[in-house]
Amino acid sequence: MTPPMSTFPDQFRLNGRTALITGSARGLGWEMAKGLAEAGARVLLHGRDRARLEPRLGELKAAGFAADAVAFDVADRAAMAAAIAGAPDIDILIHNVGERDRRPFHEIDHEAFSRLIDVDLLAAHALVKRLVPGMIERKWGRLIMVTSIVADLAIPNASSYATAKAGLTSMARALAAEYGATGVTSNALAPGFFATETNERMIASPNGEHHRARSPAKRWARPEEITGAAIFLASPAASYVNGHTLVVDGGVSATYLA
Ligand SMILES: NC(=O)c1ccc[n+]([C@@H]2O[C@H](COP(=O)([O-])OP(=O)(O)OC[C@H]3O[C@@H](n4cnc5c(N)ncnc54)[C@H](OP(=O)(O)O)[C@@H]3O)[C@@H](O)[C@H]2O)c1
Repeated sequence: MTPPMSTFPDQFRLNGRTALITGSARGLGWEMAKGLAEAGARVLLHGRDRARLEPRLGELKAAGFAADAVAFDVADRAAMAAAIAGAPDIDILIHNVGERDRRPFHEIDHEAFSRLIDVDLLAAHALVKRLVPGMIERKWGRLIMVTSIVADLAIPNASSYATAKAGLTSMARALAAEYGATGVTSNALAPGFFATETNERMIASPNGEHHRARSPAKRWARPEEITGAAIFLASPAASYVNGHTLVVDGGVSATYLA
């Protein structure tokens, strides 16, 4: 007998799934973590500092959501390995950690360029390598790499960051090709210009005003506007969405003049 079809709202629910959202003490990571918890997932918050994660964890638990936290610097692979070994089985990875270096290309020395590539790109390889075998074994998984529209659209003073994000986009596609038949999907989620804490200074600058005016929406994105896209990619509704880059930028990358 054909199993009954789940209703559309049910296909966006994440009950019974555990999600690790890296870099989720603030900014877009926190918004996505809250959203996934509301959609029913057990959420694992992550950041470098346990003390910064505690209040966030408290907020989720006070709202009645299942949540826990892991703390490690993604540059420290031994700490990453230990934290993942002690964590529950992870079904959904939203890899959201991303550091920036907003200096001109010629001012970034080899060490700084390498370090950013390590944190923003190579750490994803280390993390996926640890998580994907379990996902394959359980025949279900979601890999979601948070990239950026600057992976495709160059802007000044973002060279190492853009290079890393382009690599991450490509890695998401490569993983889709390798694991497509296993029940594991892999996609990139590419934000445009979001008004997170990290961007506060830039928003107030002439550059920030340029980004606002360049957007068809004539405003920066609110951090919570990333959440629906993350829930969608993580959900059963996206079972046949694989190797895709979902852009959430208010139309910036679709337009030349706005
Ligand atoms: N905001 C935007 O406009 C925008 C646009 C395009 C793409 N993105 C991407 O979206 C993601 C989130 O952006 P955001 O603005 O929300 O960033 P954010 O506010 O700077 O948050 C970054 C998070 O990553 C964590 N993190 C940074 N380096 C880490 C490391 N080495 N090890 C472990 N955790 C580390 C931070 O944790 P701690 O608590 O330890 O500091 C923080 O929670 C990033 O990947 C960014 O590149 C953002």
